[in-house]
Amino acid sequence: MKEMTIETLASFCRQYGFIYQGSEIYGGLANTWDYGPLGARLKNNFKDAWRKRFIQERNNSFEIDASILMHPRVWEASGHVASFYDPKIDCKHCKTRFRADNFISEATNGTVSAECMTYEEMQNFIRDNHIKCPVCGREDFTDVRRFSQMFETYRGTVDDNKSVIYLRPENAQGEYVNYINVLRTTRAKLPFSIGQVGKAFRNEVTPGNFIFRTIEFEQMEYQTFCKPGTDLEQYEYFKEYAKRFYIDLGLPEEKLRFHDHEKLVFYAKAACDVEYKFPFGFSELNGTHDRTDYDLSRHQEFSGQKMEYVDPVTNERFIPYIVESTVGVDRGVLALLFEAYHEEELPDGTIREVMKFHPYLAPYKATVLPLIKKRHAEKATEIYQRLSSIFMVDYDESGSIGKRYRRSDICGTPFAITVDDNTLCNNTVTIRDRDTMKQITLSLKEVAEYIGEKIKF
Ligand code: GAP
Repeated sequence: MKEMTIETLASFCRQYGFIYQGSEIYGGLANTWDYGPLGARLKNNFKDAWRKRFIQERNNSFEIDASILMHPRVWEASGHVASFYDPKIDCKHCKTRFRADNFISEATNGTVSAECMTYEEMQNFIRDNHIKCPVCGREDFTDVRRFSQMFETYRGTVDDNKSVIYLRPENAQGEYVNYINVLRTTRAKLPFSIGQVGKAFRNEVTPGNFIFRTIEFEQMEYQTFCKPGTDLEQYEYFKEYAKRFYIDLGLPEEKLRFHDHEKLVFYAKAACDVEYKFPFGFSELNGTHDRTDYDLSRHQEFSGQKMEYVDPVTNERFIPYIVESTVGVDRGVLALLFEAYHEEELPDGTIREVMKFHPYLAPYKATVLPLIKKRHAEKATEIYQRLSSIFMVDYDESGSIGKRYRRSDICGTPFAITVDDNTLCNNTVTIRDRDTMKQITLSLKEVAEYIGEKIKF
């Protein structure tokens, strides 16, 4: 059995159409990735699962879709312009760039955390412990310096009249600047939540590990606005709620853990990540943050607009506290891909590769297979068309039935529907289960309901 490393997973994804290198025909653009037909479906299903759990199934929960490009003052108010920097260090000899805190952690096999170190302390630690460049082996580094993570772009009609705007480095600000709009238009009462799904961009010092850390990625951010004093209760609730979300989608509890932040940004009261055990170690999937009234107070100060909430019972006026739950889409997809991949030895000694996704996440819910193309294709096409109006269905008529089962296993399709002479005579089909490989016979009119029940989340 092959060991599933990040490299073997990336190559598997490329081979079968989950994820390709970005701009591949031009030699690729480093750390950009394009989701292929299977990957795009998987990712969308993951986003839909989040929408269901966080928006649909929660009271007083609203989804918005804010602009990626926001007024530059937003990023001054948020603190990003002043402080969204990573500590970087360069090898003077081979010019390789490292993120200093990760560099220390990797050089010490995770035994030393630089989370609470100042830039000077990191620099001294690297020098005093004679840490060498892992690329060229030299011990000749620059000082630890600030590296802006914000991507800048420009707007303006003529070259000399351009002003800097930023690609958003997080979705959250779109939710904060729309808090008053959502409050007014929904007439919601505290606590209520605003969430959104969308792209974010960060000029990371050291992107890598396939889709784990990239410069363009997607987030599903969710802000709960609550009365001061109730925030820690909300915080504890969302820590668990996020972890449960991953478990219900198929990530085993023993491969998940909480990581409470030792060093908090000055305005945060508490922060905790859910981490998954990737082959490269436990790493962050999600974050829960008690952000106090910092964000809304700052936007009130910078925009001049009142961000107060008036309690309808007591008439008390206050700026709500915010508890944030943020989920990285691409990191979630990466964990789901690792967890889904299985190799199994069959009775004839051959190996089958199978992606055991939760059926809700599977790119296709079923594949329709005419046993003999000439005889069964017409009926199979009719079934395919009928089921396609209900959920995503694939159709495959080429090669032996065994080969077609293998292909459907690799796509992670939970059900394979075989159309044969019994379908023509009795209106029945056989349905093969991806995980057990057991087959049952169902009448045609039962198929949609049977599959519909099994793919629920
Ligand atoms: N609004 C808070 C915020 O943005 P964060 O921890 O910086 O918090 C939230 O990011 C989530 O976004 C992370 O938990 C992670 O899943 C994802 N994320 C952050 N940076 C990323 C990157 N460079 N590539 C892929 N995902 C990233």
